[in-house]
Amino acid sequence: MENAVKERSIDVLLREGASFPPPPAFAKTARVPSKAARAKLTAAAAKSPEKFWDAAARELFWFKPWRKTLQWKVPHAKWFVGGTTNLSYNCLDRHLDGPRRNKAALIWEGEPGEVRTYTYLQLHREVSLFANGLKSLGVAKGDRVAIYMPLVPEAVIAMLACARVGAVHGVVFGGFSAEALRDRINDSQAKIVVTSDGGWRKGAILRLKDAVDEAVKGSPSVKAVVVLKHAGNEITINEGMDHWWHRLTAKSSPVCPAEKLDSEHPLFILYTSGSTGKPKGILHTTGGYMTQVAWTTKNVFDLREEDVYWCTADVGWVTGHSYLSYGPLLNGATAFMYEGAPLTPGPDRFWSMIARHKISIFYTAPTAIRTFMRLGDSHPGKHDLTSLRLLGTVGEPINPEAWKWYRRTIGGERCPIVDTWWQTETGAIMISPLPGATAAKPGSATLPLPGVDADVVDMQGKSVPLGSGGYLVVKRPWPSMLRTIWGDDERYKAQYWSQIPGMYFTGDGARKDKDGYIWILGRIDDVLNVSGHRLSTMEIESALVGHAYVAESAVVGRPDEIHGQAVCAFVTLKGGRTPSPELKDELREFVAKAIGAIARPAEIRFTDSLPKTRSGKIMRRLLREIAAGGAVKGDVTTLEDFGILAKLQQDEE
Ligand code: PRX
Repeated sequence: MENAVKERSIDVLLREGASFPPPPAFAKTARVPSKAARAKLTAAAAKSPEKFWDAAARELFWFKPWRKTLQWKVPHAKWFVGGTTNLSYNCLDRHLDGPRRNKAALIWEGEPGEVRTYTYLQLHREVSLFANGLKSLGVAKGDRVAIYMPLVPEAVIAMLACARVGAVHGVVFGGFSAEALRDRINDSQAKIVVTSDGGWRKGAILRLKDAVDEAVKGSPSVKAVVVLKHAGNEITINEGMDHWWHRLTAKSSPVCPAEKLDSEHPLFILYTSGSTGKPKGILHTTGGYMTQVAWTTKNVFDLREEDVYWCTADVGWVTGHSYLSYGPLLNGATAFMYEGAPLTPGPDRFWSMIARHKISIFYTAPTAIRTFMRLGDSHPGKHDLTSLRLLGTVGEPINPEAWKWYRRTIGGERCPIVDTWWQTETGAIMISPLPGATAAKPGSATLPLPGVDADVVDMQGKSVPLGSGGYLVVKRPWPSMLRTIWGDDERYKAQYWSQIPGMYFTGDGARKDKDGYIWILGRIDDVLNVSGHRLSTMEIESALVGHAYVAESAVVGRPDEIHGQAVCAFVTLKGGRTPSPELKDELREFVAKAIGAIARPAEIRFTDSLPKTRSGKIMRRLLREIAAGGAVKGDVTTLEDFGILAKLQQDEE
């Protein structure tokens, strides 16, 4: 296993001690109120996972019930076979006959300060109008629709509209470049792109429509672009291709019955990085996804009718799909969403919103928590945060120091914290405390949820004893699991189901402590986790070699206090090209343009050659150690001589 992982493992051993039982006042009224209650649920679900998920699915609306709960032929699962349903119906229509009809479904705040609220009835109307708009552009069941939007209610409306008509949405994070957008559109063969003129970020406008114009030039599958007027910036309108959102919906009917869709009907494709260069289109389907997302939102967040729930993720990531959009709406909750940057106009923006909107559940990423911790206690201290009753984290391991700060300074020592482990591929939370039942240990996602057969195993698939480390796997299919990689089932099999026979391999290394708690140690493949976002080292490397001056590159992660990991690129230049600080900046921008700002290397290091094994494999371990050693002192253009290191290594072999 990776060196970095080994180091973390030692770190974990040192700090496993502290344990925080659920606050008694919280446990008293919790859905799952005790350790014993969780154990009972888990045991029953382990005995018959199908029965457990069957009951969860029955809490939702189905046009036609299923014949069979699970059909499993490794590695392909079908859940709720023969059943028909609709996710948009379950998020909206189902709530219209009762007291939730006029309840706030979404409360949105924009960076400049505007606040908009949609009740369930209003959201239903907007979704129906837009769904009919999509139909008028020729969108039919199964067609792919790319969504490239800022974090505005219309992004959620577009997703729900797709789900309503049975179109498959592919949300692309607004921070991705035109090139990354084009690749995703082409891979999914999207017929429509939904975007906006721009979005707000740090007081400036992100020009999304310009990126779409550039992407669409190289995307022949696109027949129409829908543009939301949001930031009000000047844009180019291409006659025959572009349609303003408000004009499209002005001509639409507000009546749009939800399509009766097969439980296995494709719901969305979401691209994520793997260990090879090309992003993978993770495919999720309808019935199983809906069931597990609904169950986990209700139980992990212990969601109540009167909660104001805020998940800070962008719709461009899986968390924004499952726990900003679908999970809360499936449960008839009130979800808050915020479009802009966390520190704009000042470092207390988040706390001011929590106080003003009386947020009661707050779900964010460790990287954000670390940023706030650094800024000091005075900013949250200015605001009344007593509306909060539960906190959550996701995306990467949280260091105990940040966990404790979060609990004390934000949670006022009274809010339980749920550290939730899951992935784009798993669709929903898999390992997590249940807040009224599970004692938390800072840094551990604790235990697999009922109905989830996750374990830590060795290479042969044998469960490791308590107190040991290994590979994190899932041994049985779960309802919200990915069904395949879009257009590449072979890669699906190879990537997830071939490394450890008969089991789903997560790509994470993990350790089980003496209580069976799972501690995630990090990725064991060539995937980086920067601010909770997954980046492939190979994807960045292939972007770099796309530059005319670059001969070869190797990208590794180095530990970063705020972001978890930072991108460090070692670059060799083509003959006759000289390193310079300007070229470093140019290469950093080059990567940002090819992939997006999140992939911009924190550091570029020029080198004469890269250390390789005799078989030509780049010795990443060595590079990681060098990268972790800190920035090169002195001349920023210093060349590193890996020739010698490589020779030394070869002599050792
Ligand atoms: O390495 C794990 C880490 O993030 C990976 C999944 O990334 P992605 O598909 O982008 O989804 C992120 C949001 C669900 C995992 O393989 N990860 C996620 N949550 C945690 C985590 N690592 C430790 N603790 C977590 N709670």
